[in-house]
Amino acid sequence: MFAAASFRSMLPSGTTALSALASRRTFSAATQMQKFAIYRYDPEKTARPFLQEYDIDLKQCGPMILDALIKVKDEVDPTLTFRRSCREGICGSCAMNINGKNGLACLIYIEPDAKPIEIQPLPHSYVVKDLVPDLTNFYNQYKSIEPWLKRKDEKAPGEKEYYQSHEDRLKLDGMYECILCASCMTSCPSYWWNPEYYLGPAVLMQAYRWIADSRDQYTEERLAWVNDTMKLYRCHGIMNCTNCCPKGLDPAKAIVELKAQVAQTYKDGWQEMAAGEISKNTGRESGMMYM
Ligand code: SF4
Ligand code: SF4
Ligand code: FES
Repeated sequence: MFAAASFRSMLPSGTTALSALASRRTFSAATQMQKFAIYRYDPEKTARPFLQEYDIDLKQCGPMILDALIKVKDEVDPTLTFRRSCREGICGSCAMNINGKNGLACLIYIEPDAKPIEIQPLPHSYVVKDLVPDLTNFYNQYKSIEPWLKRKDEKAPGEKEYYQSHEDRLKLDGMYECILCASCMTSCPSYWWNPEYYLGPAVLMQAYRWIADSRDQYTEERLAWVNDTMKLYRCHGIMNCTNCCPKGLDPAKAIVELKAQVAQTYKDGWQEMAAGEISKNTGRESGMMYM
């Protein structure tokens, strides 16, 4: 009773609740059209990729780029293909190139523009279909750095977890949060030119994440493994990687620290050590070849 009375008292005199609602409806019914130019490629049907334009009414669409893609797929063209899962910047699957910059479609707002908003797959990647890049090489390279805890003296069954001090745990901040979206990898010019040999920013940062982990006992082997002209030293500090990371991480800094640790700890005999590591896992040598 009180709420209804106070709502009526807020209306200008002569206005009924019904007419107020009607004017709200008129406002939300106004349209705001935006063009999207979306990369289309179906290897089974089209010889060449092309940009297809779609008009979307922003008044009938959620605020993010991913909302527009879902609207196109649901209501205009169900053949449009893209990856997405969490819609909140956690899974990393909606990474793509939006108006020339890599990022996550679910975290980037639609900025209304007279020009079409251009949406392309991650650059310099093989395309499976439309906005879906083939990330096999990236995943193989990630696998090649053995991204798990490796111990020489393993704990006996029933023993407590491996202790890590608070200070040592803090050393992993800024690296463990990587969601492997590949935005940084595919924005790195060095990776564009040598994707089969250069490990790229995300993979190198993850290699360093395990090197920096106080519980891991293969630090030296890991350093010897990445100490390679192609795997590590193709990074020239161009910083594209850090500039585009949607999680605000700094892979370029991790690579600088990794290089410094290699320089500080290098010993004769590392080559043999790296060769020994290869013999334990023969498929490990290169991203492209590691199936
Ligand atoms: S800093 Fe290194 S990894 Fe990052 S974009 Fe530049 S060359 Fe690539
Ligand atoms: S470092 Fe950032 S951009 Fe690169 S894969 Fe991880 S989350 Fe994505
Ligand atoms: S949908 Fe998961 S990060 Fe965008």
